[in-house]
Amino acid sequence: MNTETLFDRIGGEYAINAAVDSFYEKVLSDDLLYPFFEGICMDTQMSSMKSFLTVAFGHGSSETIKNMREVHAPLVEKGLNDTHFDAILGHMTETLQELSIAENLIAEVQDVVESYRDEVLNR
Ligand code: HEM
Repeated sequence: MNTETLFDRIGGEYAINAAVDSFYEKVLSDDLLYPFFEGICMDTQMSSMKSFLTVAFGHGSSETIKNMREVHAPLVEKGLNDTHFDAILGHMTETLQELSIAENLIAEVQDVVESYRDEVLNR
């Protein structure tokens, strides 16, 4: 049995940092998603996302992360829906492919991200 966390198997902190940097470049170049990030401090956002994924991939304490429902509630009021969520998932997948992460690990990441869909969309 593989006892390493998804965090370790993906390549640890180095891989998460590289993935989040490249992921947000894609997100901010996407006209569908960019409006949600206008006026948001991207340094803070990127560091929060790195902490979140570190925990979501099994490394560290979940006490350090915020409630995804509350964080995204104002965005849902501005129209955040499944189309935006799918686009985010697509950029995440493409980023991991570009970093040559194995397809089976990408599938695991997709499952983890997918598990937050209803929380993020406040359903
Ligand atoms: C599974 C999917 C998602 C995850 C894991 C996620 C994760 C996060 C995290 C960790 C934060 C920072 C929370 C904090 O510490 O303050 C955040 C905030 C934010 N997210 Fe997401 N997010 C997801 C989906 C989305 C989508 C689909 C959008 C819009 C296209 C979005 C837009 C934002 C914005 C604009 C903020 C900043 C809110 C603010 O500071 O007022 N997120 N998200």
